[in-house]
Amino acid sequence: MAQAAKRVGILTAGGDSPGLNAAIRGFGKAAIGRYGMELIGFRDGIRGLAENRFIELDKRSLSGILTIGGTILGTSRDKVQRMLLDGEVRDAIPTIVDNYRSNNLDALVMLGGGGTAKNAMRLVDAGLNVITLPKTIDNDIAMTDTSFGFATAMEIATEAIDRLHSTAHSHHRIILTEVMGHRAGWLTLGAGIAGGADVILLPEIPFSVESIAETVKQRMAGGSTFSVIAVAEGARDIIDTADLQAAELLSRNAKTIEAKKAAAQHLANVTDGQREHTFKLARQLEEATGLESRVTILGYVQRGGTPCATDRLLASRLGSAAAELVASDTYGVMVAARGEGTEPVALSEVAGKVKYVPSDHEWVETARSMGVGLGE
Ligand code: F6P
Repeated sequence: MAQAAKRVGILTAGGDSPGLNAAIRGFGKAAIGRYGMELIGFRDGIRGLAENRFIELDKRSLSGILTIGGTILGTSRDKVQRMLLDGEVRDAIPTIVDNYRSNNLDALVMLGGGGTAKNAMRLVDAGLNVITLPKTIDNDIAMTDTSFGFATAMEIATEAIDRLHSTAHSHHRIILTEVMGHRAGWLTLGAGIAGGADVILLPEIPFSVESIAETVKQRMAGGSTFSVIAVAEGARDIIDTADLQAAELLSRNAKTIEAKKAAAQHLANVTDGQREHTFKLARQLEEATGLESRVTILGYVQRGGTPCATDRLLASRLGSAAAELVASDTYGVMVAARGEGTEPVALSEVAGKVKYVPSDHEWVETARSMGVGLGE
């Protein structure tokens, strides 16, 4: 007897990232066209899943979205186990399970980063069939070579660093560019090398202001009266890094409710005190080198707009691979990018882990051997 067509839900969660629509389309085209599945798209990530807000997706709705930035479904940063629903903060997992069942879903495909993998893991534990696809401009998801969004963001940040050179050069200034990436330095390192930054500062390598000033002064001695510095949003000097790590440790180790509250407040204060770190560094460098300094925060421009070809290709490959996994009833996995192929990886290997830049990574060694300052 012929099997009933599978009915699948799809959603995009966490910060948006170029390539989300390409992945929805890649999955949808294969799921509907090749396997005859039915597809619904939940609005606004986990929020729509908990509130049962969705649209039916067919071939028509997937047409023309490959090149569009953002996500046609909308997104949010909710946590399944603790979200504001119907005026109260509560565990949304039972509601989500009900919605999954009442929509007769056979599987749920979640496009997201590390936080989404954690949410997915919780839903797997509640008995749902879930697959995730790695999405983030930060490239910090464990167990996958890369994630869609990263290549586009790297292009944008690289172009910005390129453009800052001529103005830094003309005015004999130091220009610091703050690049996204959360607590990982991939985006800054990749764009910094590709854009020819003179100094690259990463969260993984706490910096000393003296060392950066020394690099700038050496350049001045060689006749280059300007410097372009790529600063990861998570990069800190040695002292700030130690303060932050101590506050995080305190927060992780707090046992009682009182201690947890106090530790959370302390961590918030430390984080808040470090908010303007790139501006602080600019002032310190101005003082240490005598060169005028300026700051450019690249911000959300790195996440916006059409995905580059590399991300469209990656998102399409991962999306269609996910459809094959649903067809073969393989769940509880993230579809990882592995070389030129894809591979299902258990969600338990991904959730709660972060892929940082190893301090001896090949890209770091490349920067070192080209004489790029890392503030070490
Ligand atoms: O994770 C992607 C990212 O763009 C990070 O690079 C950045 O730190 C963060 O999201 C910004 O988050 P939000 O969209 O919540 O402001």
